Amino acid sequence: MCGIIGYAGDESAVPIIVDGLKKLEYRGYDSAGIAVFTKDSFKVVKQKGRLVGLEERLENTTITSNMGIGHTRWATHGEPSDVNSHPHLGSGSKIAVVHNGIIENYKQLKAQLERRGVKFVSQTDSEVVAQLAEYYYNGNLLDTVIKTANALEGSYALGIMCLEEPDVLVAVKKDNPLIVGVSEKGNFIASDVPAILKHTNQVFYLEDKEIAVLTKRAVQFFNMDKELLTKQIETITWSVDSAEKGGYPHFMLKEIVEQPKVLCDTIQSEIIKIPDITSFNKIVITACGSAYNAGVVSKYVFERLCRFPSIEVELASEFRYKDACVDEKTLVILVSQSGETADTIAAMREAKTKGAITLSIVNVVGSTLAKEADYTVYTAAGPEIAVATTKAFSTQLVVLYKLAVKFAVQLQKISADEGRKLSDEIASIPDKVAEILTKIDFIQKYASTCIGYKSIFFIGRNIDYAIALEGSLKLKEISYIHSEAYAGGELKHGTISLVEENTLVVAISCCQRLYSKIFSNIEQVISRGAKVFLVSNVEAAEETDKLSLLKLPNIHELFSPSLSVIVLQLFSYYVAANKGLDIDKPRNLAKSVTVE
Ligand code: M6R
Repeated sequence: MCGIIGYAGDESAVPIIVDGLKKLEYRGYDSAGIAVFTKDSFKVVKQKGRLVGLEERLENTTITSNMGIGHTRWATHGEPSDVNSHPHLGSGSKIAVVHNGIIENYKQLKAQLERRGVKFVSQTDSEVVAQLAEYYYNGNLLDTVIKTANALEGSYALGIMCLEEPDVLVAVKKDNPLIVGVSEKGNFIASDVPAILKHTNQVFYLEDKEIAVLTKRAVQFFNMDKELLTKQIETITWSVDSAEKGGYPHFMLKEIVEQPKVLCDTIQSEIIKIPDITSFNKIVITACGSAYNAGVVSKYVFERLCRFPSIEVELASEFRYKDACVDEKTLVILVSQSGETADTIAAMREAKTKGAITLSIVNVVGSTLAKEADYTVYTAAGPEIAVATTKAFSTQLVVLYKLAVKFAVQLQKISADEGRKLSDEIASIPDKVAEILTKIDFIQKYASTCIGYKSIFFIGRNIDYAIALEGSLKLKEISYIHSEAYAGGELKHGTISLVEENTLVVAISCCQRLYSKIFSNIEQVISRGAKVFLVSNVEAAEETDKLSLLKLPNIHELFSPSLSVIVLQLFSYYVAANKGLDIDKPRNLAKSVTVE
């Protein structure tokens, strides 16, 4: 969940590393640090807190260096503090290390080293890598990294430098992402593309247990047997602007506003290779967080269109440990923006072990899920920087709709002509989203009246309930207001006891046939003192003094979550903005959850 970057080249290393860390801060922001080569020592500057603090400190120093490593941290072992910040050095200050991941056997390794007199200074698992590498160092950094990596259990993406080899930066990874970028002005390592996109779009994706040895002029790859590898270079198609804020106060708002375009891109990119659904008897959709919510929405779509005997949606963190009933007749669909979520990867591997066929829906090209699944369909959301997902979620939804339509035709549950009509309806989503975005001012104003609520409930029925789950998650993660989502029909079974004066209920109603049902839920909560924000495209919906209404454009009921979610995203955004919160980096969260 941390971000790492490294640079070896002709330019000044500090600004390149700090700028890269800015792009990686979404991965963790408890502390930040850099280590660069100066004449005959490492210059290490690191501290607890946001990157901006480190930047301020660096502004007052001149450091001349063309090579270094940097880190932005999401604490796992050891509290956020200056000493626990990365980079870590060996006790002799010969080796400097940045690490993303968890070293599971760090206690044993630490004890062994301590018995040999090595003095540790931090509480982190990561320091053990620096100490061990320094202990093993034999005059060759590549050999040392191989020996060190062989001793480690757990997950890691590592950038390692050695004082005695001032031209060399070595990187290695296992179960955490790491890319190597190459350019005329130098070579890079990074946890993610946006960190280096400004400098190059030519990258190599490191596989597990592959090692990259970088100098300013060359990059070589090795396996753990020190055999030289030939790797394929990839060209990144994301634009440099897509990883910048572009004048918006937050990435989240920029990413919400980008949705008509990325939806269009995703809808227009053809799904080339998918399995024949007629050879399966079960579909399991599994994911985490918002990606799971996309799965819940899609279950309604798959069920309605495909009439398939068994469609399940599972949290990946549950699926991986439940001894799921899946076999070669099961299609397991994994949904993930990053393609690196630890639980989703584990769910995929578990499914594969049981013989299931896997299909991943992923935003990040070259990510683990994309590489390891039997089939992969990409969302074309571009880089998503805000921790709260918006455009990636929306593009996941349309990929899932497209799959459902394709499968329904394959299964002959709908005709090719009906399939085309549904596809036309999906193609209308971007324009309708653009129409909703013209109502930003209304949503902003309404949200500004909602910052005092202690609890906000989201209700809906059927597919409106599915999207209520996402509305509630979005609100709580960035505004820190307690929130839960309920199926309207469940209110009377317990939840209504929580409704009182000063409760806000956000109701979603795009299922025309269920409008009278959700409306009676609305009346029940209003009569108990609640205020209601209704998001609906039902003609009969009307505003009252207790009910504020946002009208959506019409669309096929099954695709309506793609419209209502835009309002829910904007509502959450403006509640959090009015509270003055750090929207792009909410407390305790990180964008990519690469640990359990
Ligand atoms: O990268 P992934 O899509 O696999 O991430 C899954 C969740 O961590 C993610 O959707 C998370 O819930 C978001 N912060 C929600 O906005």
